[in-house]
Amino acid sequence: MSTQTPAASPSSRDGFSSRFGVFAATLGSAVGLGNLWKVPYLTGTHGGAAFLLVYLVATLLIGLPVMIAEISMGRKSRANAVTTLQTLAPTRGPWWLIGVLGMLAAFFILAFYSEVAAWIFAYILKAIRGEVISSDPTVTADEFTALIGDPVQSFLWQWVVLVLIGTILMFGITKGIEAVTKRLMPLLFVLLIVLCAVSLTLDEAKAGLEFLFKPDLDELTTSTVLVAMGLAFFKLSVGMGTMMTYGSYFKPDQNIPVTAFRVMCADVAVSLLAGIAIFPAVFTFGFVPEAGPSLVFITLPAVFSQLPFGQTLMVAFFILAAVAATGALLSLLEVPIAIFHERLRISRPRATVLTLGLLAAPATAAAFSQNLLINWQVADMTPFVLFDYVSSNIMLPLGGILIAVFVGWRWGWPAFSVALSNEGQLRNQRLARVIFTLLKYVTPLLVILVMAQGLGLA
Ligand code: PHE
Repeated sequence: MSTQTPAASPSSRDGFSSRFGVFAATLGSAVGLGNLWKVPYLTGTHGGAAFLLVYLVATLLIGLPVMIAEISMGRKSRANAVTTLQTLAPTRGPWWLIGVLGMLAAFFILAFYSEVAAWIFAYILKAIRGEVISSDPTVTADEFTALIGDPVQSFLWQWVVLVLIGTILMFGITKGIEAVTKRLMPLLFVLLIVLCAVSLTLDEAKAGLEFLFKPDLDELTTSTVLVAMGLAFFKLSVGMGTMMTYGSYFKPDQNIPVTAFRVMCADVAVSLLAGIAIFPAVFTFGFVPEAGPSLVFITLPAVFSQLPFGQTLMVAFFILAAVAATGALLSLLEVPIAIFHERLRISRPRATVLTLGLLAAPATAAAFSQNLLINWQVADMTPFVLFDYVSSNIMLPLGGILIAVFVGWRWGWPAFSVALSNEGQLRNQRLARVIFTLLKYVTPLLVILVMAQGLGLA
């Protein structure tokens, strides 16, 4: 097979500069508040281990193949998500709409994600001032409630986050994304391991671990399974073109399945570490696992209160969490920015400003969801909850089905295997076959089934 890769020489296009940089940036997209905030809180509200198990299975059977598909597509086309689908399916059908759906999902996610990131940033300051550190559940809960109940703080911190990310993005891919994520992700990992070690010495560590790892399958309902699957999509940043866009910055000789697999393993590891750091404390100090979105913010200060240098470590933790959130936010913003930059032929700074401008309304609705707009509910959900629910449980799975169907039935095996295997240079054909078969049959059927059941359509 030819070793020429004409489409894969991004001479005029910015790209990741090294293999480790590619891995770090992709991991930087995957690891974020999903691991530190969403996995623990959803595991807590959905009954524990059984939920976690479904999330892991969905990650392996659905998330990973879709991630490999997206990266292969992006690297082949070297373009934003809309153009990628257009160029890979030049003649028939409105496949490019998948890119548009992905962009909409990015706005939905950005709206609430930037607010959670805002809480993290606010907590850095609180931790520095020593305001939140306590093992008393009522104290830590009151601190958090006061923060999210304050419209001014919710709004301002969110814009601190958005302006910061916008500024990083204006410097471009290599310098911006790579430089930030590469350096700080390993530190987060180390700090989480320290937290786990402390948590495991707590009195009720065993109860916490059992909650996390002893599945009771009776806990599972169809809606739980849907949420766990949605989490798998959200965690790996797939189903909406993020990985397609990042794939377009991949080097031509990067091994896609291996990179994707490593990202998945590291991402799952961070989620599990976060769970191990949190749940023993939940049971020891009398928090409730079902606390919901506040869980991390109210339990971790209790773990830190047990540590020597707890306050300093807590400051470090929230700074690293902010960095993790930043890596994910950068990748979310990159989807619309790449589309606007390349399709509307406007500069990257202009595309960034346009994206932030369009984001202003939904982001503000999310910021005010816990205070001014608390009664502004659709189907019992505030804008914040609605954006989260609709993106993770409807838009990303739908995007995932469409991407899998596109690869399996439209792009087809020959094109996919060449794109995946570095123009035929890698000899992992059998593995490529397995991934293709998963994409062609298993992913779409499984996701349709789970969605239909979970949404009560079947
Ligand atoms: N995976 C990120 C996290 O867990 C969130 C994300 C979702 C980022 C979708 C990009 C696209 O925090």
